[in-house]
Amino acid sequence: MSNDPSVLYSARNIRKEYRLQGISVPVLKGLHLQIRRGEILSIVGLSGVGKSTLLNILGLLDSPSSGELIYQGRRSDFHGQNLARLDIQDKSRVRNREFGFVFQFYHLLPDLDVLENVMLPAMILLGVAEYRARKPQIVERARSLLERVGILERQDFPPSRLSGGERQRAAIARALMNDPELVFCDEPTGNLDTVTGHRIHGLILELNRDLGTGFVLVTHDRGLSRLAHRTLAMRDGLFASPS
Ligand SMILES: Nc1ncnc2c1ncn2[C@@H]1O[C@H](COP(=O)(O)OP(=O)(O)O)[C@@H](O)[C@H]1O
Ligand SMILES: [Mg+2]
Repeated sequence: MSNDPSVLYSARNIRKEYRLQGISVPVLKGLHLQIRRGEILSIVGLSGVGKSTLLNILGLLDSPSSGELIYQGRRSDFHGQNLARLDIQDKSRVRNREFGFVFQFYHLLPDLDVLENVMLPAMILLGVAEYRARKPQIVERARSLLERVGILERQDFPPSRLSGGERQRAAIARALMNDPELVFCDEPTGNLDTVTGHRIHGLILELNRDLGTGFVLVTHDRGLSRLAHRTLAMRDGLFASPS
């Protein structure tokens, strides 16, 4: 199973429980998942079922209570190792190099302009000294990403002056800054009207096709889950039917 070269990321027997007033509440109950290289995978399920919890665990923003995360990325230093067991520094290194994130409410920093928001992951990955040394190339890359997502003319604007669709385009450009192999999107069209949401769908498809970037989409948006190569439904802490 782990030797299948088409598998980029395997999550095995993932459990997560939250403690509420001393009582343990299980959310993920021994879930298995394989993400293939370059695929668009959508995860659907009722509100509260644990989709965001799973995405945050896969993206190393949160830790599972138990289970294994085996990532076979091209540039990963941790092949065959359980990423859930890495220390905080190694986790953030993997996260910044390999993964991008897109959230429902964009999470752009209000005091930075659009271009600076897009460059931020490079600063976090490289550190300030190397970021400064390579700034011209970083600016060039950020501008080319803004052009690709169609908002280069907004590069000097603060996020507050952008529409919802433009903010999500900026967030997508930011997610791509460090050339991730996988982008996790949590309800990326949840705050957008239908037409704007459809444009974001088109953009995700185009980026997947042109760059080979994989996407894991958590969504209520049927249009968005339809464009995925594969859809998994979560129910009661597990995937309802494997595919
Ligand atoms: N930090 C937390 N502490 C306690 N319970 C949480 C926490 N985060 C999420 N939960 C609970 O875990 C369950 C799954 O939440 P979530 O992953 O956000 O679901 P979804 O994204 O599918 O709507 C919910 O019952 C939620 O209340
Ligand atoms: Mg959620």
